Amino acid sequence: MPLLEARSLTKRFGGLVAVDRVDLTIEAGEIASLIGPNGAGKTTFFNMVTGLYRPTSGTLVFDGHPLGRQRPNQVTKLGIARTFQNIRLFKNMTARDNILVGMNCRLRSNWYHALLRTPGMVREEEAARHRADELLDYVGLGRHMGDTVAHALPYGLQRRLEIARALATQPKLLLLDEPSAGMNPRETQALTELIRQLRDDLGLTVLLIEHDMKVVMGISDRVHVLDYGRKIAEGPPREIQHNPRVIEAYLGRAAAEGAAEPAATTRETG
Ligand SMILES: Nc1ncnc2c1ncn2[C@@H]1O[C@H](COP(=O)(O)OP(=O)(O)O)[C@@H](O)[C@H]1O
Ligand SMILES: [Mg+2]
Repeated sequence: MPLLEARSLTKRFGGLVAVDRVDLTIEAGEIASLIGPNGAGKTTFFNMVTGLYRPTSGTLVFDGHPLGRQRPNQVTKLGIARTFQNIRLFKNMTARDNILVGMNCRLRSNWYHALLRTPGMVREEEAARHRADELLDYVGLGRHMGDTVAHALPYGLQRRLEIARALATQPKLLLLDEPSAGMNPRETQALTELIRQLRDDLGLTVLLIEHDMKVVMGISDRVHVLDYGRKIAEGPPREIQHNPRVIEAYLGRAAAEGAAEPAATTRETG
C-alpha cells in the first residue's frame, strides 16, 4: 500500500483549474520531487494534502486514511508535516518555542493539567524541552540557538528551524515547499544532505517541491512533473531530465516569460 495516493485530484479556483485530475503515488521511504514551471499547481497540491484547501474532486488517501475533508491539525496528527514556500515561523518567538509549538499536537496534557500544573505536566514539559534541544542539534542550528528569536536567525537557519518544527510533530511524511529557495550553493548542499538523512536516519518519506534541478536530480528516487495543473511525466531523475515533454514545458514557459537563457535543467521555476 502506498503511503500517499492521489487519484484524479482536482482543484479549481473559479475558472482556473490549478490542479487537474492528478494521479500521484508516494511509496513509504522514498524521496520524491514535485517539479514544474511557476504556477503549475505544486503548492496547491500540498495545500490539498495538508487540509488548507478542499479538493474540488478526486481522492486522497494517506496511510489508509481518506484526506480532503480533514482539517490541517487532523492531518498533522495523522502524520503529515510541511514547510512553506514563504517561511511561516512565529517570528517573535524563540527557536525553541517554535519547535515546542510543533510538538504541542503530540502532548497529552490538556488545559486542566496546564491550569493545575500537575507533576505529569511538568515532566512532559521538561521532556519536550529536551526533545526540542535535540531537534535544534539535529537540523544544525544547535541548542545554543534555542533562545534566539526566530526573525533574528539568518535565512538559511530559519528554513532549518521550519524543518525542525515540522519534525516535532513526528511525521511519517514530510512535505517541503522549495526548501532551498534563497540559499547559496553551500547551504543548498548541506540542506540536501539533511534531507537525505531525514530519510536514511529517521525513516521519513519526503515529498519535495524544488526548483534547483541539482537538488532534485541528486536526491530524488522519483520525480513527478506538473504543467498547467496536469501531470505530464513521472519517473526516475535521469529519465525526467531527458523527457521531451518536460523540457518543452520548461522551455515554452521560459520563452513566454521572455527569459534570456532558457536552460531546462538549471532555470529557476518558482
Ligand atoms: N487561493 C487561490 N486562489 C486563486 N488562485 C490560486 C490560489 N492558489 C493558487 N492559485 C492559482 O493556482 C495556480 C497554481 O498555483 P500554485 O499551486 O501556487 O503553483 P506553483 O506552486 O506550482 O508555482 C496559479 O495560477 C495560482 O495563481
Ligand atoms: Mg509554489
